[in-house]
Amino acid sequence: PFRRLLATRATVLAEAARALAGAQVVVATALVRDAAVLAARRTRPPELAGLWELPGGRVEAGESEADAVVRECREELGTDVVVDARLGTDLRIDAGVLRVHAAHLADGAPGPRALEHSGLRWVTAAEVPGVDWVPADRAVVADLVDLLRP
Ligand code: C5P
Repeated sequence: PFRRLLATRATVLAEAARALAGAQVVVATALVRDAAVLAARRTRPPELAGLWELPGGRVEAGESEADAVVRECREELGTDVVVDARLGTDLRIDAGVLRVHAAHLADGAPGPRALEHSGLRWVTAAEVPGVDWVPADRAVVADLVDLLRP
């Protein structure tokens, strides 16, 4: 048991070291308009296809998280967003760590279009808990509801 405890602690330390060394950060965008947040339906991988996510993706080298949010929204939604505050805590995912940023459409920016998703929908606070979110994004449901409530 003692050896197992040490092994457990070693695993925890290894994970902490990896986090400090800079695990891959994935950003997701809580794009808010008229008290609703944009949900986007994934097309891949097969186990996530059909589930809804906050659009985003991997932060690239030399890029800030806000830069990545803006770039991903251009690529995936064909529109320009302005990044607001972080939402919720760091979420552990297979790819690394997921960080959600609230954002709004830039002045005069066109409405989002599904360039890489199979569908988009604007979701109100009342609807957020019932959406079939990808597993990682389910962890921010309560924060999304708070964000959308007046
Ligand atoms: O979209 P992309 O495949 O580049 O995302 C990278 C990883 O982040 C994937 O493993 C995806 O499942 C995860 N992700 C997530 N929630 C999001 C966006 C991405 O779990 N809102």
